[in-house]
Amino acid sequence: MDAPLLEARDVHKSYWMGEKEIHVLRGASFCLRKGEMASLVGPSGVGKSTFLHVIGTLDPPTRGQVLFEGNDASAMSEQELAAFRNRAVGFVFQFHYLLPEFTALENAAMPGLINRLSKQAAEAQAREMLEIVGLAHRMDHRPGELSGGEQQRVALARALVLKPRLLLADEPTGNLDEATGEGIHQLLVELNQKLGIGAIVVTHNPRLAERMPRRLRLHEGLVVDA
Ligand SMILES: Nc1ncnc2c1ncn2[C@@H]1O[C@H](COP(=O)(O)OP(=O)(O)O)[C@@H](O)[C@H]1O
Ligand SMILES: [Mg+2]
Repeated sequence: MDAPLLEARDVHKSYWMGEKEIHVLRGASFCLRKGEMASLVGPSGVGKSTFLHVIGTLDPPTRGQVLFEGNDASAMSEQELAAFRNRAVGFVFQFHYLLPEFTALENAAMPGLINRLSKQAAEAQAREMLEIVGLAHRMDHRPGELSGGEQQRVALARALVLKPRLLLADEPTGNLDEATGEGIHQLLVELNQKLGIGAIVVTHNPRLAERMPRRLRLHEGLVVDA
């Protein structure tokens, strides 16, 4: 068995609307091993995005622990967390959040530049990743000159360009038609196999969720194997 990549231990997360507590995560415990890939399903509003934010250390749990490779995220400073996130975790969302005035290559090179790689090195890595996601022929296109599926591939290349150990994808195919969404899911599975990156992919599509090696469901504030 591979070592744990990510662990959640009795994680609770509440939001407060004035006096009213919205208790979203209610003691979720779960472990993802290095290189393991899982889908996460559950009805809208159940807390899937909340869970990804908490395990991705974008948002602290109200109670409980998140451990990344055995290190407790709550013991890290805000600065350490940000540095860790930049290096170790890639995020992809339903909307691509690409910068419209930059080319695919420049968008994918952005994390490298933020991590102080030279422009040359950042673009070399971006080129490599864009080739892997099948966009060698679209490097100089701006987001507005790409299809929805291609935009999402650029977002994926950007998320993976620094070779993170974990990819968190929140309904990455939610805005795409069925066939295009299928292509992105296929690509996610290939990337997981090729690069050995652990991944959690939230999806509304049960057919796509079925195809992932492991299937998780968020139910009444807990994460369970489906
Ligand atoms: N920042 C927030 N403030 C207050 N309530 C929130 C916030 N984010 C999410 N919620 C509530 O928490 C619940 C879970 O939301 P979310 O994690 O987005 O669900 P899902 O991704 O499964 O659709 C919902 O009831 C939502 O309204
Ligand atoms: Mg959501």
